[in-house]
Amino acid sequence: MDYETIRVETDGPLVLLTIHRPDKLNALNSTVRRELMEAVDALARDDGVKVAILSGAGEKAFVAGADVSEFAARTPAEQRALYNHRRVYDAIADFPKPILCAVHGYCLGGGSELALACDLRVADRTARFSQAEIRLGLIPGAGGTQRLARLVGPGQAMRMALTGDMVDAEEAYRMGLVEVLVDEGRHLEKAREIAGRMARWSPVALRLAKRSIKAAMETPLSAGLQLEKELFLAAFASDDGQEGVQAFVEKRDPEFKGR
Ligand code: COA
Repeated sequence: MDYETIRVETDGPLVLLTIHRPDKLNALNSTVRRELMEAVDALARDDGVKVAILSGAGEKAFVAGADVSEFAARTPAEQRALYNHRRVYDAIADFPKPILCAVHGYCLGGGSELALACDLRVADRTARFSQAEIRLGLIPGAGGTQRLARLVGPGQAMRMALTGDMVDAEEAYRMGLVEVLVDEGRHLEKAREIAGRMARWSPVALRLAKRSIKAAMETPLSAGLQLEKELFLAAFASDDGQEGVQAFVEKRDPEFKGR
């Protein structure tokens, strides 16, 4: 499929999704958001794809935020109408397969929220994060108070959202906003390596594990443990679960079929 503002490259079971508006620091305009949603929906249906990586084109930025020029042209009623539709952040968060974010350079506002919607963040040392909305008289509106607070705790989320200050890669790593930190320019290579290590396993188990961990963000512990038990039993009953256990007993590599 041809897109105007994103690139989709498959590499065996991995797919690299690149936001491609480098002259605008990959700012999220409505075309990027629509195309990203179309792409993740298509990838969700594609059995050949096991793990996705999201990145941004160019030397300077992953994504420098929502496209502020579009904000400027919108009435409050138009903005509300947009918020009533499915949003790219939720499309990414609900993507049933693992999705890693590879961050280089600016990761601001909606860009940071896009990274937060992914399952884990790999950043190089140039990465800089901020919830900059407060500078515009706004607040984060796509997870930059909610997903951020759950990931790094309410205090650090307060600091970021209320100051709008940039946090460098080292600090983001220390506070848990970035899970893997690498030297400049190594973010994609590292993300591919981690994605490749996931892609060896059963797609059924990957999907169930992801679903269970995501539920931990939303449920009390007792309900989460109950769900985990059910999802474990679903994995156990799957052909891949049977194959994995049998292969271990027979001292051979498993052959996962995705069912
Ligand atoms: N929305 C729309 N356009 C953006 C953008 C955004 N969020 N961020 C950058 N751009 C555009 C700039 O307008 C510029 O376009 P132009 O060449 O047509 O003028 C281009 O991207 C390059 O950005 P520029 O500002 O020249 O780069 P810089 O290196 O001097 O500064 C930033 C980089 C990130 C500090 C600066 O671009 C910035 O502050 N961007 C806005 C960040 C923001 O507030 N994001 C959160 C929105 S909620």
